[in-house]
Amino acid sequence: MNSNDDRINYLDHAATTPMRNEVLEKMLPYFTEKFGNPSSLYSLAGEARYGVDAAREQVAQVINSRENEIVFTGSGSESNNTAIKGTASAREMRKGHIITTSIEHHAVIHPIEQLEKLGYDATYIGVDNTGLVDPEEFASAVRPDTFLASVMLVNNEIGTIQPVRHIADLTRQSAISCGADVLIHTDAVQAAGKISLDVDELGVDMMSLSGHKIYGPKGAGVLFVRRGVVLDPLISGGGQERQRRSGTENVASIVGLGEALILSESERLSNRSRMQRLSNRLVKGIIEKIPDAIIDDKRLSHVPEIINVSFPGVEGESILLGLDFKGIAASSGSACSSASVEPSHVLLALGQAPALAVGSVRFSLGRHTTDEDITDVLKALPLVLKQLRAFPSST
Ligand SMILES: Cc1ncc(COP(=O)(O)O)c(C=O)c1O
Repeated sequence: MNSNDDRINYLDHAATTPMRNEVLEKMLPYFTEKFGNPSSLYSLAGEARYGVDAAREQVAQVINSRENEIVFTGSGSESNNTAIKGTASAREMRKGHIITTSIEHHAVIHPIEQLEKLGYDATYIGVDNTGLVDPEEFASAVRPDTFLASVMLVNNEIGTIQPVRHIADLTRQSAISCGADVLIHTDAVQAAGKISLDVDELGVDMMSLSGHKIYGPKGAGVLFVRRGVVLDPLISGGGQERQRRSGTENVASIVGLGEALILSESERLSNRSRMQRLSNRLVKGIIEKIPDAIIDDKRLSHVPEIINVSFPGVEGESILLGLDFKGIAASSGSACSSASVEPSHVLLALGQAPALAVGSVRFSLGRHTTDEDITDVLKALPLVLKQLRAFPSST
């Protein structure tokens, strides 16, 4: 995709992705001829039930779990909320303590803040200036009443990969020594299709996924819940999803999510070197062309797809408008908060000054990104910045 034609150079795959045709084709019959309610008894319903069961098998295969450990939800946000509020609620009157990090997505931070208002306690572990959590510091926050630790696998704004396994191991050791029973949850919404989601290798008890970040449908999520975890449902009613998420199943979207996950996993390793090469070109090009850009050029524990760069003295929103004018779609901070000019909590947690953090832009690459797209950005970005710096009030 390039700016010489009328197509968009889409570099905002961490916000959402275009649905794959293969996924859409799998979904379509479930809107029409296979429209039955999976809970009904006749054969029409059986087709819908088969669709949901097959998707459950696909997800279980990719994350190396049992099928009955998969709960389909309405989004990645719902999965996170279910993991956090569901385990808190299952403690009944005991309240308790949660450990998380200061760079989680708002779909983790806000439910924890809600629980704090109800009398639960939370510790937010900071990160170093590359965005990594220190596993020892994380584990040392365990208290006898800690019941949940939630740490994201890949950050949606800066692309860092947390050492989830190491954090989980140390947290469990700490839990044993202080007599706590701690469940480990990971928000892997941005990790799918990029790194392994094997729940045993990751050492997690719960894991959240979302369909629309992997070329699948929006409004479809997964929560992996390891056997034995006690969790109250967020939505009660007809008892679907083994009592964990009531509501008639969104069959077409569940089918789409399963297919999207299988496809993204099957291409994950073969995409790696192309993504790394394109990402390196973009980072190197920005450093060469815009010497005052603030960018983590080492990117040691990072997915290549997500690149965050801050430009001193310019607002990210203005840069986005300038890029949009040139046919390039990127993002400043996370998509959900891009309507506000508040600096991103993630960049502040890295130690960036608020004035610099508001000048940040996130480029996120995807399966359709080409060398030509990168060339276009490297051409457009210096021009946009030059214009904004020459006429700071023009936006
Ligand atoms: C890390 C992370 N967690 C959770 C979510 C929420 O997922 P959904 O949009 O499916 O609610 C997002 C979406 O941006 C995300 O990036």
